[in-house]
Amino acid sequence: MTHAVLGIIGGSGIYDLPGLEDVREETIQSPWGEPSAPLTRGVIGGLPIAFLPRHGKGHVFSPSDINYRANIDVLKRAGVTDLISLSACGSFKEELPPGTFVLVDQFLDRTYRRESSFFGKGCVAHVSMAHPVSPRLHVHLAAAAEAEGIAAVRGGTYVCMEGPQFSSLAESLTYKEQGHSVIGMTNMPEAKLAREAEICYASVAMVTDYDCWHPHHEAVTVQDIIRVLNSNAGKAKALVARLARDFPREHEPCPIGSDKALDTALITAPEA
Ligand code: ADE
Repeated sequence: MTHAVLGIIGGSGIYDLPGLEDVREETIQSPWGEPSAPLTRGVIGGLPIAFLPRHGKGHVFSPSDINYRANIDVLKRAGVTDLISLSACGSFKEELPPGTFVLVDQFLDRTYRRESSFFGKGCVAHVSMAHPVSPRLHVHLAAAAEAEGIAAVRGGTYVCMEGPQFSSLAESLTYKEQGHSVIGMTNMPEAKLAREAEICYASVAMVTDYDCWHPHHEAVTVQDIIRVLNSNAGKAKALVARLARDFPREHEPCPIGSDKALDTALITAPEA
């Protein structure tokens, strides 16, 4: 039996977790380089938590400059079995206005200048990303949102763009036309690396704006995002606290095998 350890990656506006008890900072060395920050360790209702602010203390790492490999690696070394990503996003749907939480279940990876695998020359592996979100974690998140009275939409595709500039109108209209739900800059390669590390992953995409496609809203600016960010952050912290209190103390095997993704992924011969 494996004890559950819940990892939380905080995005823009989420640089700490107020509900944590027995708080301590932990610096874990990684062969992949420096993570965004030391981990904040603690417990909520007895459940061990490891928190990492993705953009670093003081929001110093732009999405392209985040060391995603080191971040996932230190969370794995901290024993994290289940990982929740919290991030701000723009919306492609009228019915997903700013303030909405979307429990996304698919990703479209449009990033192009990030290290996106732990594998490569010498040790080759191809994990499945058909279903990037762990369905069990998704259900726990939905239940926590309901218990806290937080409106959360279940399912949707998150387009992960490289940034740091926002999308052009042509890009925004294309993604909308394709039927995607939200856009952000950080969930990839995070979700891919979590899968390679055999950590169950789920993402809460918190809408701050309508990007630039909406005829009755100005194109998104950082000021718009910051205006919505603080109320989203308050709700996200309540969501995490509830999730942690209600979370099973023993790690539940992932129904789609996220937690043993490498069983079927390694292609390099062991003796190579
Ligand atoms: N994060 C928040 N809003 C965004 C948007 N419109 N595009 C990309 N990332 C975002």
